[in-house]
Amino acid sequence: MAKIAILGFGTVGSGVYEVLCRNAAGVSHRAGEPVEVKYILDPKDFSDHPAAKLFIKNFDAILEDPEVKVVVETIGGTRFAYPYVKACLESGRSVCTSNKEMVATYGAELLALAKAHNCAFLFEASVGGGTPIITPMHQCLAANVITEVEGIVNGTTNFMLTKMAREDLGFDEALKIAQELGYAETRDPGDDVDGRDACRKIAILSSLVCGHQIYPQNIPTRGIRDITVDDVAAAEKLGCVIKLIAWMKRGEEGSVAAGVEPCLVPKANQLAGVDDVFNAVLVKGDMLGDVVFYGKGAGKLPTASAVVADVVDALKNGVKVHDSLFWQPAEPVEGMLTDPA
Ligand code: HSE
Repeated sequence: MAKIAILGFGTVGSGVYEVLCRNAAGVSHRAGEPVEVKYILDPKDFSDHPAAKLFIKNFDAILEDPEVKVVVETIGGTRFAYPYVKACLESGRSVCTSNKEMVATYGAELLALAKAHNCAFLFEASVGGGTPIITPMHQCLAANVITEVEGIVNGTTNFMLTKMAREDLGFDEALKIAQELGYAETRDPGDDVDGRDACRKIAILSSLVCGHQIYPQNIPTRGIRDITVDDVAAAEKLGCVIKLIAWMKRGEEGSVAAGVEPCLVPKANQLAGVDDVFNAVLVKGDMLGDVVFYGKGAGKLPTASAVVADVVDALKNGVKVHDSLFWQPAEPVEGMLTDPA
C-alpha cells in the first residue's frame, strides 16, 4: 500500500483526490500497489467533507510519518510550497507538483535535491495542464536536439481571445466571462492576462531543452491587456487570429532566445485553430521534425490527471525517472537571454 499526502485542497488538489478515488483500480494497477491518500494539508475547515479525517493543518505530521512516500504539492505560489517541497525532498519523499511558479524559479535546486536524496521531483502538470508535454519532451524526444518550442500555453487568455474574435467582445467583457467561469482570478487576473503564467511555462520548457535554468525574469513578456476590438478586427481582415504565443529558439553555439507576446497567426497555421482553454505546443526536433502536443491546458480533472500520472511514475520508478528530466542551476541574466555557459 502506497500512502501519499496532498498539500493544498484547492482546484487541483481536490481534483487529485477525485481522480484517485474515481480511477483507484487503474491507478493502483499501474503503480504496482494500492495508492491511498493518508493526509490532506489545508488551513481551511473541511470538517463537513466526507474524507474529513484526512485533513490536517500541521505539515510536520507528514514529515514525521515514514509511511508517506510521495507528496503532491498543489498549494501554488512559492511562500509555503517551496519550503514544504524542499523539506519533503530532503526527507527522501518524492514530490509531484502542478506549481509552475515554483518550478520556473527553483526547478534546478529542487531537481538537484531530489537527485541527492534518491527521490523524484515531477511536474508534468506545470505546463499544458493535462496535456502531456514535459514527459514526451524528455523521454520520447530523447534522441533529438530540440531547436525550437512555440505554442499556446495559457488557457485563460486563449479562451478570452477566442471569445473576443468570435463574439466581437472587448478585453474587459472577455475577462469578466473568464472570471465568472473561474478561469481567471477575480482579485488579480494579472498572472494570466499579463503573460506571467505563460512566461513561467516557457521558462520551464526552455530550462528542460537547454539543460540549465532559464529564469522567467529574463524572458521578455507581453500579455493581452492592450488587445482591442479593433486589433481583433484588423487581424480578421488579414486572414489571421491573435494568439498569445510563448516561444523559445536555440541559436548557434548554445545561445537561447525566448519570449511571450500576442502574435498574428495566419488561419492556415495549426495554432490558429486552437480555441478556448485548449493549449498546443509545437516542438521541433532535429531528427523527428515537428510534433504538436494538443489538449486541455487547464481545469481541475485534466490538471489532476497529469499530477496523478506523476504519482504513478514516482511510485514505480522513483529516482530512475530523473536522468533525462534535469537541468543545472545558472545565474539569472538580466536583460535579453544569453547562454551563461
Ligand atoms: N491559469 C492557467 C491557464 C492555469 O489559464 O492556463 C493552468 O496552468
